[in-house]
Amino acid sequence: MTGVRFIGSVRNFLWRTLPPTAYHHARYSCRNCSFFLPQTISARFHAATPEVHTFGSGDLNTRLHKANVLAPTRMCRTMTRYGSDKGSGWHNYTTVYSTLFRGWHDRPLRILELGLGTNNPGLMSSMGSHGVPDASLRGWREIFPSALIYGADIDRDILFQEERIKTFYCDQLDATAIKNLWSQPELRDGMNVIINDGLRTLRCERLVSGGFARQSPSRWVLYRRGHRL
Ligand SMILES: C[S@@+](CC[C@H](N)C(=O)[O-])C[C@H]1O[C@@H](n2cnc3c(N)ncnc32)[C@H](O)[C@@H]1O
Repeated sequence: MTGVRFIGSVRNFLWRTLPPTAYHHARYSCRNCSFFLPQTISARFHAATPEVHTFGSGDLNTRLHKANVLAPTRMCRTMTRYGSDKGSGWHNYTTVYSTLFRGWHDRPLRILELGLGTNNPGLMSSMGSHGVPDASLRGWREIFPSALIYGADIDRDILFQEERIKTFYCDQLDATAIKNLWSQPELRDGMNVIINDGLRTLRCERLVSGGFARQSPSRWVLYRRGHRL
């Protein structure tokens, strides 16, 4: 049996036998030992900066060029602890997000994330049946204690509402659904940050960015592209 298949079998066994909270706790602990700890140490000796394409120069450029995408950050750990894959190693977007959001933690931000992490294997871009829906929204809420967090997804089964979090239905391939999303009273004032972690086809990004740019001009829209930065 190969190492990957062995790990898969152990994971399935734990999934079947442990209660969900214990399973996710065990998964995070494994990730901590097998990835975050060694990677934090090795990133002291190796650095890689993201490839940055921007218009003009400025503080943001300088900051992004200083980010080490090999070094896990607190945001990577928080997101992984909740069950999001943004900074778990397979992806490393949160290494750059940490740089972008440095100094923003106490701001009363309005953040919208598209794509909440369905665990329905039949849907596009699913996190798989072991996935944790809505993980990243709870992560954002912890990271930004004064922010209001909004989310949208095509999977109605994972929509929810909790303190400082509200979610809505949206099919990112449907211009009318995007318009309806923006007509929600809570979203009409626009967003400081929009993260597209839903469907990531070019057509979909065009539709999304068109609608969102009108709604929140001059704010940040972050797209997720490729596996690693
Ligand atoms: C990779 S998951 C999001 C992961 C999550 N943000 C996290 O960090 O844990 C992608 C999500 O996009 C959603 N999705 C796929 N197609 C969509 C569409 N056409 N419109 C809206 N959401 C869609 C899926 O239901 C899934 O929940």
